[in-house]
Amino acid sequence: MDLVLAGPPGSGKSAVGQLVAARHGAPFLDLDRAIETAAGRPISAIFETEGEAGFRARERAAIERLGPARPRQGDRAAPGGAAPGGAAPIERIIAIGGGAVVDPRNRWLLFRGRRVVTLSAPPGVLLRRLRGGPVRPLLAGRDPVAMLSDLLARRARWYAAGETVDATGPLRSVARRLEELLASPEPRGTSLLRADTVIGRLTIGDGDALPRLLEALAALDARRVACVSEPAAWRLHGERLAAGIANAGLEVVPLLAPGGEAAKTVAAYARLVRAMAAARLERGDPVVAIGGGALGDAAGFAAATYLRGVPLVHVPTTLVAQIDSAIGGKTAIDIPEGKNLVGAFHQPRAVVVDVSTLATLPVRQRRAALGEAIKYGALGDERLLELLERDAASIARGARRAFESGAVAELVERCAWAKVEIVAADEREQAGRLVLNLGHSIGHAIEAAAGYRRILHGEAVAHGLRGALAVGMAVGVTPPERAARIERLLATAGLAQEPPGVGEPEVRAHLARDKKHAGGRLRWVLPTDSGVVVQTDVPDEAVSAGIAAALAGPGGIAASTSGAPRSPRRRGSAASPAASTSGAPR
Ligand SMILES: NC(=O)c1ccc[n+]([C@@H]2O[C@H](COP(=O)([O-])OP(=O)(O)OC[C@H]3O[C@@H](n4cnc5c(N)ncnc54)[C@H](O)[C@@H]3O)[C@@H](O)[C@H]2O)c1
Repeated sequence: MDLVLAGPPGSGKSAVGQLVAARHGAPFLDLDRAIETAAGRPISAIFETEGEAGFRARERAAIERLGPARPRQGDRAAPGGAAPGGAAPIERIIAIGGGAVVDPRNRWLLFRGRRVVTLSAPPGVLLRRLRGGPVRPLLAGRDPVAMLSDLLARRARWYAAGETVDATGPLRSVARRLEELLASPEPRGTSLLRADTVIGRLTIGDGDALPRLLEALAALDARRVACVSEPAAWRLHGERLAAGIANAGLEVVPLLAPGGEAAKTVAAYARLVRAMAAARLERGDPVVAIGGGALGDAAGFAAATYLRGVPLVHVPTTLVAQIDSAIGGKTAIDIPEGKNLVGAFHQPRAVVVDVSTLATLPVRQRRAALGEAIKYGALGDERLLELLERDAASIARGARRAFESGAVAELVERCAWAKVEIVAADEREQAGRLVLNLGHSIGHAIEAAAGYRRILHGEAVAHGLRGALAVGMAVGVTPPERAARIERLLATAGLAQEPPGVGEPEVRAHLARDKKHAGGRLRWVLPTDSGVVVQTDVPDEAVSAGIAAALAGPGGIAASTSGAPRSPRRRGSAASPAASTSGAPR
């Protein structure tokens, strides 16, 4: 077993790692020293001449040189001998730099197949240890207490992905605590992120759904659990998770709703809550929703309303659910008068995202979800746009490479975290959350005009994005190069490559009923050169250009704006929070 030691500067990764490696006769590798050796100079000099970006590139190269994790030990004798307690022997200990965890792809390369332990200590302890040591570039020349506290807060969700060892106290005590932990069985799967937020806990990993779910249920002190799912998700993933919950000693009440949108009818909702009542579920018994967005919306609404609200845990199994619907607390069912017209805000206690569940998803479902992912990129995440430009086609196809390279995991993390940040700042959709509506005004209208049958939600959003680009160009906030870039991305993803085949009068009628009106004017979310603005004073001709572009398919923007876009100028009422927070590499 390879052991990765993570943690902030001053947590003692190198000292503890060396000590434990020596005791186990295992090689020790300090990633920062490996970078210095390869560069032929100290890290402070690399920062001086190449900046942080240069250092991070060298760090990535050093991580890639590590190669894949050594195969996990079965019954093969290990060179290092048996670890205490008969747990997997340690083959190699790798201490990583404090900031190596920031990049999602680094975590993917470092954490998969390895045991990850974070050494944690309060800022005061870390600073005492750092005084007198070599200068740490990211803490140099500023208020070190404030800097370190800020660093810890920003990185908490990544450090918390690993198992944790208290790193306060003398070196030998920390090493002993680490060895005690290593004597326990290795956790299953790979955890990439674990964040406790005001809208619930979010975990993201690969093959780690069961341990993370059990952890969430333990935090709720649950003894009985309603596992609500639908046939496909149940057969592929739910049944196994329910068996794992039962094996852990909890009572499981399995409840199946119909697949897809049929889970969101009034009749299906009534059957679900009646089954919950028949099973005598009590107020403390959580609902675990295992499935896509439709199942999550329906189970979430049942959890929001049964006994005036029971705890909810989402285990989203579609790309739409992982990057969008499971996060944010919106639950709903449909009525004949309209989709999602009856609902409630009910925040989940935890959202357990396991990207490995996406491998079984039909191609069309994965592709459609990329419409939402492109939206998140357009909100201002440059790295996400680049990822999509490179990998959207292979992600849609479900190519093994897209999963193995970490592209799917990075995409899910970038989108899901953007949604957490936006929703946490505006839980009830008063202002900032509106930016999530990019592409949705015309998109929803197209989806509705198609009767919610022929066109999937993400496909409609893709058409809607084209419409928003055309509106933005018509009012002069969207530069033509930005519109062209997003158009190319739609083509790469294979989205909106045919006209949606719905009538303009129907789209106009549905647009007039959009929920995002303020004072009779629709609030438009429009792309800028690096994010979005929200604008209410959009003239009718611009709206017409947007509708025409969306209904025309590829090439629709040029046709609808007569090839003469007005020069971009910034207008509007609110810049995208995503544009200001997610654009820079983290
Ligand atoms: N609450 C929100 O904030 C929010 C946001 C976006 C969308 N939504 C809602 O989400 C719904 C769409 O969600 P969706 O796109 O996930 O569709 P979906 O829930 O209908 O699932 C799509 C299909 O995938 C199947 N499936 C689920 N998991 C699978 C897996 N791992 N492998 C193979 N098949 C699997 C399902 O059985 C279904 O047939 C809509 O009802 C929409 O209104 C809600």
